[in-house]
Amino acid sequence: MATEARDPIPPFPAGFLWGVSTSAHQIEGAADLRTPSVWDTFTAGPGRVKDGSTAAVACDHYHRYREDVALLAGLGVDAYRFSVSWPRVLADGGLGFYDRLVDELCAAGIRPVPTLFHWDLPAGLDWLERDTAARFAEHVSVVAGRLGDRVDKWITLNEPAEHTLLGHALGVHAPGRQLLFDALPVAHHQLLAHGLAVRALRAAGAADIGIANSHGPTWPASKEQADVEAADLYDLLLNRLFADPLLLGAYPDGLGELMPGDVPADLKIISEPLDWYGVNYYAPARVGAPQGTETSFGGVRMPAELPFSLREIEGVPTTAFGWPVVPEGLTELLTGFHDRYGDRLPPVVVTENGCSYDGLDDQARITYLDGHLRALHRAVEAGVDVRGYFVWSLLDNFEWAEGYTQRFGLVHVDPETQERTPKASYTWFADMLGQQRL
Ligand code: BGC
Repeated sequence: MATEARDPIPPFPAGFLWGVSTSAHQIEGAADLRTPSVWDTFTAGPGRVKDGSTAAVACDHYHRYREDVALLAGLGVDAYRFSVSWPRVLADGGLGFYDRLVDELCAAGIRPVPTLFHWDLPAGLDWLERDTAARFAEHVSVVAGRLGDRVDKWITLNEPAEHTLLGHALGVHAPGRQLLFDALPVAHHQLLAHGLAVRALRAAGAADIGIANSHGPTWPASKEQADVEAADLYDLLLNRLFADPLLLGAYPDGLGELMPGDVPADLKIISEPLDWYGVNYYAPARVGAPQGTETSFGGVRMPAELPFSLREIEGVPTTAFGWPVVPEGLTELLTGFHDRYGDRLPPVVVTENGCSYDGLDDQARITYLDGHLRALHRAVEAGVDVRGYFVWSLLDNFEWAEGYTQRFGLVHVDPETQERTPKASYTWFADMLGQQRL
């Protein structure tokens, strides 16, 4: 597996945090040792997951976490972002797993960075209900009380935007609702849950708290007014709806009027100051006016009645998932955030970035990561305070509605035998980290 020689990636600032990310439902398995989640209910339905698979065993990380921490140590990362499964915490003895994982990480000199919610809501709870936010804050207090002596860096939620859009507006993820714009309360309740979680974490003594939000630049399909307006709406829903309340304490463009509850009071909670802001970046979107027919983007069908349509970005490579590879989108996104939010934007950490490709000699993944790290460095040079970068993902895993068909890992996992095999990108990333530390 010869990897093409490239110029070294320019050095990132001292103290830069290098890591990889995973999530509980996608890797842990051991479904019998936790309570059910909305994802268990969802995947049990017909035709929900492409290969008909479930995450009941996934990468069996629950039983193989020692082997996986050894892979992290071999990679040489500073930090590991994983998620704490709320349904597991609700099961007798469930928190014990995270005790053991955190101990193993600390013994290996790897900083644990838990995400407190990554889409696996306990079955029976519902983000349409305001009370779910309060229940989440209780979950956060329990976890922080148990792990807070060894964990100092926390992430409240993963991608409330995707969870709202895919899970509640379009119905391609759990819980499978197709509410379109009636899903907006789900966004508000998750943001409220985030704010309450920040308060709960601070009450437990934590002082290094962020969120992992998915963002990407939105490009109008043309200069026509209808395309520009459609792209602006998409940008509003994906980017500003989730960043403005957190960073500016206000909903953009009158969206607050559509939200439930005492919105001004909730916004005070939602905008609790953050120590850092996590960005998950995969690709930009090219958006135009509706075309009167269903469109498809990255495997997701967009109904004709939406007031926008997603278009192909021409002339760029695509991943196995069909997602466009546009590293400069990361520079554009971060410099755009820096311009829009100014001093209100805390230091940024890229909490996810990665791609799906097949095979052990995954040169295309190396090209993707190399390009995005250079693009990230350009954002640093342009004045954005970036403090860390996490690759999605350590292992090939249960890629939600795609089952095991999309492979984002630096390490190949055979779903039948559970054998782990580091790919060419694993070696490349380890070497890159070595160079950064020279
Ligand atoms: C999610 C991950 C997912 C990845 C690739 C992100 O939206 O946080 O759980 O596997 O993208 O689709």
